[in-house]
Amino acid sequence: MKKLFVSILFVSLIAACGGGSAEKKADESAPAVAKTEDLSSNPDYQKGLEITAKSDCFTCHKIEEKNIGPAWRDVANKYGGSDTAVNYLANKIKNGGSGVWGQVPMAAHPNLSDDDLKTVARYVLLLKNK
Ligand code: HEC
Repeated sequence: MKKLFVSILFVSLIAACGGGSAEKKADESAPAVAKTEDLSSNPDYQKGLEITAKSDCFTCHKIEEKNIGPAWRDVANKYGGSDTAVNYLANKIKNGGSGVWGQVPMAAHPNLSDDDLKTVARYVLLLKNK
């Protein structure tokens, strides 16, 4: 019985390792991941993460995938490089609205300060990979 348990454990370990390396492979082929790691020393990135984690953003958003709201990577790719993007996005996060990514409205965030809104907008734009 003990032997059986050990071999089951062994088999599931192999399965776990297999899964892990498949994941790693996907990461290596995605330059976006490497870029995100480089960002960790950027103050806007750090502060933006803090503010968004405390707020409700991640109920509706993910970085890489569309959720109720668009993936932030897609948002960054759409507006990154535009001079007016920080102000535009800061405003949109403050007031909410719909119609850019679909008909579902983005929630308003009247409680974030103007500084925080701009930091968050810069943080989202940092996620650009194109
Ligand atoms: C209730 C769900 C919800 C929450 C909470 C939410 N969002 Fe959104 N967000 C959306 C939706 C839906 C859209 C797409 C709006 C549109 O199509 O115009 C969106 C769009 C955006 C955009 C792109 C705006 C544009 O015009 O392209 C940004 C940036 C954004 N959200 C940031 C945030 C941040 C930062 C927070 C937290 C402070 C947040 N969101 C919280 C649902 C949400």
